[in-house]
Amino acid sequence: MKQYKYLLQEKDLPTHWYNILADMKNPPPFYRHPATLEEMVNPPMPPPVFPMALIEQEFSKERYIEIPDKVRDVLKLWRPSPIYRAHRWEAALDTPAKIYYKWEGVSPPGSHKPNTAVAQAYYAKEEGLEGLATETGAGQWGSALCFATQLFGLKCKVFMVTISYHQKPYRRILMETWGGEVVPSPSSETHAGRAILAKDPETSGSLGISISEAIEYAVTHDGWKYSLGSVVNFVLLHQTVIGQEARMQMEMAGDYPDIVIGCAGGGSNAAGLIFPFLKDKLDGTRPDLRAIFVESTACPSMTRGIYAYDWGDTAKTGPVAKMHTVGHGFIPAPVHAGGLRYHGMAPSICALLDQGQAEARAYHQNAILGVAVNFAQSEGIVVAPETAHAIQATYDEAMACKESGEAKVILFNCSGHGHFDLAAYDAFHRHDLPDYELEQIKIEQALAELPQIP
Ligand SMILES: Cc1ncc(COP(=O)(O)O)c(C=O)c1O
Repeated sequence: MKQYKYLLQEKDLPTHWYNILADMKNPPPFYRHPATLEEMVNPPMPPPVFPMALIEQEFSKERYIEIPDKVRDVLKLWRPSPIYRAHRWEAALDTPAKIYYKWEGVSPPGSHKPNTAVAQAYYAKEEGLEGLATETGAGQWGSALCFATQLFGLKCKVFMVTISYHQKPYRRILMETWGGEVVPSPSSETHAGRAILAKDPETSGSLGISISEAIEYAVTHDGWKYSLGSVVNFVLLHQTVIGQEARMQMEMAGDYPDIVIGCAGGGSNAAGLIFPFLKDKLDGTRPDLRAIFVESTACPSMTRGIYAYDWGDTAKTGPVAKMHTVGHGFIPAPVHAGGLRYHGMAPSICALLDQGQAEARAYHQNAILGVAVNFAQSEGIVVAPETAHAIQATYDEAMACKESGEAKVILFNCSGHGHFDLAAYDAFHRHDLPDYELEQIKIEQALAELPQIP
């Protein structure tokens, strides 16, 4: 008899996060100070914008870090999350590939994002803070942080990229329902926002700009700190509950993936699924495992950017990291996958790409929505446009199996639902969805502003 889902019990929720830095022969280099560009060898990062416990995790070389009980208690609201075997989609594609997906859309905000939001709110509360400021693209991260902060009795201020603020009003309402305060970014509330608006009052905004605003808000308000939903080590660390659960579930299914896939904006959901498997490739147990990180052609940091030091935000207030980047000044086209519109990528993922341990690819939004519709018609789930990028890569790999006759095992992270992204599906159905052909000159202009580090 066919089995469709692989379920774990609450007691199976991982007790520790997995830190891939402990297993990398060449981990990413240290961050650089945003102003002096000197190596920041020891924490805390000046200014210490994050709670101290998170800064310690950022620099930790421990392989496993214990998850506090209070964090696990909240995660149990929806975790462990299910793994599905996509029998119906496999049949529809007529592929010999065995397709599995880890479904993170079961969390209250509808994505993987609360896996770290809950941990960050917990450490902020422990430090005695009043609130956390953050940025959000699609609104998934902002809603996850509002959900988490209100559970711990904290305030939340969200700078939401202007284009998404208008495209996704329901995400804003969700954030407000969970007690958050949301403003379109760039806003007139910060120096960084006002400077951008003075140059371009009609700008659609970018995650880089919103990050600058949120950092500025945090450092200019007593009792507030900044919270980031992706890119940095501690966020990727918190997401590894996904991959650790998935390992147990794949064992239940009697399979081990040949290919693991995730969409990547800053890289957190993909790393969360992939890193606990990649451990086996790094230690030589599974040398043939393929890991694929998938981005948008509108913001192609991994596939067209360069591997260099760059600021994490537009106003150059955050640390400088070595990463694949299209430049901190790059403003991507307003694709519906708002969460994939970040100019850089997690430094740990970039180091793994550079060392040949992982692959990257990019897709246009019409392609990914087409395959998301196809997936929905077999599996029922209407995914977020970000997630649809992972589905497109899975589709391509499944079709390659059809061609070669191989029955490869493919596992992808189904990072979130698209219930607040139906406007994207509507535009797709009406053939009214532009694909953006990115001019090389725009990337080159943005790259010309990179910091000069010998
Ligand atoms: C559903 C979903 N998937 C993926 C992403 C991309 O973020 P990350 O690369 O950090 O997982 C986002 C970001 O907003 C998202 O909302």
